[in-house]
Amino acid sequence: MSAGRDPARTYATDAIAVEWEPKLCIHTENCVRGLPQVFDGSRRPWVLVDAADADAVAATVMTCPTGALHFRRLDGGPQEEPDSETTIEPRPNGPLFVRGKVRILDSDGELIREDTRVALCRCGASKNKPFCDGSHREIRFTTASPGPDEATG
Ligand code: SF4
Ligand code: FES
Repeated sequence: MSAGRDPARTYATDAIAVEWEPKLCIHTENCVRGLPQVFDGSRRPWVLVDAADADAVAATVMTCPTGALHFRRLDGGPQEEPDSETTIEPRPNGPLFVRGKVRILDSDGELIREDTRVALCRCGASKNKPFCDGSHREIRFTTASPGPDEATG
């Protein structure tokens, strides 16, 4: 397992194991939209891995922007690979989505997480910094430029 990952739940078939870290899930629902028969937050368990083939489950897991979802192939299929380029996508009124070969260090230079995808807080309100925990919605964080009268310099 890569550094810093701490999946609370694992859902598995003989072909694939899906790991979920709730503390990183900010309910973007990419997974639900991509494969609703597998990922359904209104159902328990919310992940039914055997409701689609392992390739489809793996592809959908990779659309999770926060790293809350990961997979391990148990059938010899291709394992998770980071994007070859690193990209940073600022989300409107939300976090920075980072994809690639990501290594996050703390202020002492200690590695706290290695991942292929992370969502980094830019509102300042997360209780799980440097990761977004969805708090930007509660504080109504906005990335809109302030008007000239509101700018603080
Ligand atoms: S795509 Fe990831 S962050 Fe979004 S709801 Fe699914 S597990 Fe949570
Ligand atoms: S950007 Fe999501 S908690 Fe700060």
